[in-house]
Amino acid sequence: MKHFLKLLDCTTEEIYELLDLAATMKQYVKEGKEHHFLKGKTLGMIFEKSSTRTRISFETGMYQLGGHALFISARDSQIGRGEPTQDTARVMSRMLDGIMIRTFEQKEVEMLAEYGSIPIINGLTDLCHPCQVMADLLTIREHKGKLEGLTMCYIGDGNNMANSLIVGFLKMGAHVSIACPKAYQPDAQVLSFTEQYPGKFVMTESPEEAAKDADVIFTDVWASMGQEEEKAVREKAFRGYQINAELLAKAHLGCMVQHCLPAHRGEEITADVFESHADQIFDEAENRLHAQKAVMVAVMADKKDW
Ligand code: CP
Ligand code: NVA
Repeated sequence: MKHFLKLLDCTTEEIYELLDLAATMKQYVKEGKEHHFLKGKTLGMIFEKSSTRTRISFETGMYQLGGHALFISARDSQIGRGEPTQDTARVMSRMLDGIMIRTFEQKEVEMLAEYGSIPIINGLTDLCHPCQVMADLLTIREHKGKLEGLTMCYIGDGNNMANSLIVGFLKMGAHVSIACPKAYQPDAQVLSFTEQYPGKFVMTESPEEAAKDADVIFTDVWASMGQEEEKAVREKAFRGYQINAELLAKAHLGCMVQHCLPAHRGEEITADVFESHADQIFDEAENRLHAQKAVMVAVMADKKDW
């Protein structure tokens, strides 16, 4: 695997391999076993949007793998002053061993990969959040023992999280049911991808319909980073698209609840549902570390000797 740009690019086998590798990484941490697969390597982490989990998990992950991570804020680098991505890609390729980027447009990530000569990892764009969904797949597999045949439900905005969840879960053999308001549907490219999975993908405007028979329900914020000015309009559009006790009662008994975080209690999820599923949600947050270490090792390690 050369880059990790979006799950649409990954085969089912590659996703399985990453999940197994993530489980191995997690085991190494639990056993306190040294696993310096990226010794002497440096990852540049470009952030054009805020982050808590992504920054901490990549930086800690690089340290645990024996390498170094460099935080590069767009605001404090020439990126924020408009240096062309084509040039940033070539400069960084001369000094770093890999780049993780969190930005707005997916085309920035693709351009880094095109012009650079080192592995590029997508740490969230407006289109997708593939690292988060690797952690999500890992968490569900740990809790349910499998992914194939489960029903993954997503309620809310057809945003980056929805796009990656749809692709990731369909590729792993799960059923996917989505409830979004008409004006906030997932990306067209993702919707056309779902056509390869007849009978396995349902999209509705009704959260109750989508939640029926779910084994896991995901949600995300109503206004993503970069959409702050739309907050009031979105609050109105998404009213009713909330994970609450009533909605959860429609799902399978023992249905899991997941949220990539940060969460807005009282909006997309009620405080009681959040707190009663907090262990699962924070397992999901912890798994960012293990899943991303697998991604970094898969694209950056010289030898595959784990
Ligand atoms: N879930 C997630 O990506 O969190 P951060 O925005 O804190 O990185
Ligand atoms: N959809 C959210 C995810 C944050 C991790 C956003 O893009 O802001």
